Amino acid sequence: MTIRAIVLAAGKGTRMKSSTPKVLHELCGRPMLWYTLRALREAGIDDVIVVTNDELDPHVAALGARSVIQREQLGTGHAVKVAVEQIERVAGGRIIVACGDMPLVPPEIFRTMVGSLEGDGAAAPAMALVTVKMPLPSNFGRIVRSGNDIERIVEVRDATPDELALDEMNAGIYAFDEAELRDAVLALRNENAQSEYYLTDTVEHFVRGGKRVRPVPAGDHLHVLGVNDRVELALARREMNARLCARHMRDGVTIVDPATTYLEPELSIGRDTVIYPNTTISLLSEIGERCTIGPNARLSAAKIGDGVTIRESVIVESEIGSESTVGPFAHVRGHAVLDGENRVGNFVEIKNSHYAKGAKSAHLAYLGDAEIGEESNIGAGTITCNYDGKNKHRTTIGKNVMIGSNTSIVAPRTIGDDALTGAGSVVTKDVAPGERVAGNPAKPLPKK
Ligand code: UD1
Ligand code: MG
Repeated sequence: MTIRAIVLAAGKGTRMKSSTPKVLHELCGRPMLWYTLRALREAGIDDVIVVTNDELDPHVAALGARSVIQREQLGTGHAVKVAVEQIERVAGGRIIVACGDMPLVPPEIFRTMVGSLEGDGAAAPAMALVTVKMPLPSNFGRIVRSGNDIERIVEVRDATPDELALDEMNAGIYAFDEAELRDAVLALRNENAQSEYYLTDTVEHFVRGGKRVRPVPAGDHLHVLGVNDRVELALARREMNARLCARHMRDGVTIVDPATTYLEPELSIGRDTVIYPNTTISLLSEIGERCTIGPNARLSAAKIGDGVTIRESVIVESEIGSESTVGPFAHVRGHAVLDGENRVGNFVEIKNSHYAKGAKSAHLAYLGDAEIGEESNIGAGTITCNYDGKNKHRTTIGKNVMIGSNTSIVAPRTIGDDALTGAGSVVTKDVAPGERVAGNPAKPLPKK
């Protein structure tokens, strides 16, 4: 059986008051629409058609879906009509309809919807829809029943006071028998308060035609939270973040304060790692086991080994090897790689540099475009002068080197193994292995 999904996302999203299309607004590091597409994929639905407008359309392919453009937004029913008219007709096909502004829908709901059109003895339903009990007041369409059966859905703007008091609502997620849907959208009329073609009117169409419409309860109403303005966006973000934290906690990570720990999907964090408050971890970062991260840390595209401590520091697009200590107040960026057992202390910036095992820079320093050999110690106040105003140059420091406090190394320079620079050295020439230099400009000291 062919199951496809249509995701409605062409609405103007006027209440966001934004020049960015609503479904591209970000929560937890991904556009809202990304979450809907992922949940559909996880439910086994790979063929997804997003109904877009002109501004949104160029962004959809990058998210892994195809799109159809609805040039005029004449309502949800019209949006689905535009979509089914452009996709190939499949006999016996099923179509799930979802909204691009509901990022919290878990895949289980879509999975349930896929199975919701089975006949179970009676005639197979033409349509199933997710229903939800919501605290009032709410802008969701109300489900009007006659006895046990769903009779129709009434939109808030068209509802009578009695209908507005109903607390069973339409979540906006549907499954349709494809042939029935194609007929139903042709029958829609726009005689209502908004002069729109409502997809919700398909319910009454089926009921009148003697067809079954099956309700599927959503359970938690947060699952179907719709984002229409930035207040709801913040609510959705908080809920998504709480879920991400909960997943890692269940997998063995201690998160001291989930409310101030900001995660994204697709992170990996090892067991017995402890995350302290005000920490943000993003962009596919990978963190090993037994680490201590935070408080006040920001890790973006970071790869962290096991047993690493990172306090009050920023790590961007860089690797920190196992059993290293970083911070407080360090900034490691620009594809820096620390092999392990390193120590990076306060007010140290490391950019595009490689620290071999055991190399240390414990106090205020700038290491840019540098190679630091095993067990070398970079003294406080060391600067690699890597930029001559036009080009960047590399500094190479060998093993077991002792760089004295307040050394400036004017790159490109090589300092050999076991060498030493005295405090305040300005190194303008290469330093041979075992050599000791000092002064400005640095000159060899007499051999001991
Ligand atoms: C819709 C339902 C309502 C339900 C609610 C749940 C209808 C008529 N009403 O109302 O019963 O409780 O969702 O969230 O369907 N869209 C288009 N093209 C259009 C109009 C809308 O693609 O011409 C898209 C929007 O981008 C949005 C979705 O369809 O993603 C829902 O549209 P919206 O206007 O937000 O409908 P609601 O008023 O929320
Ligand atoms: Mg809406």
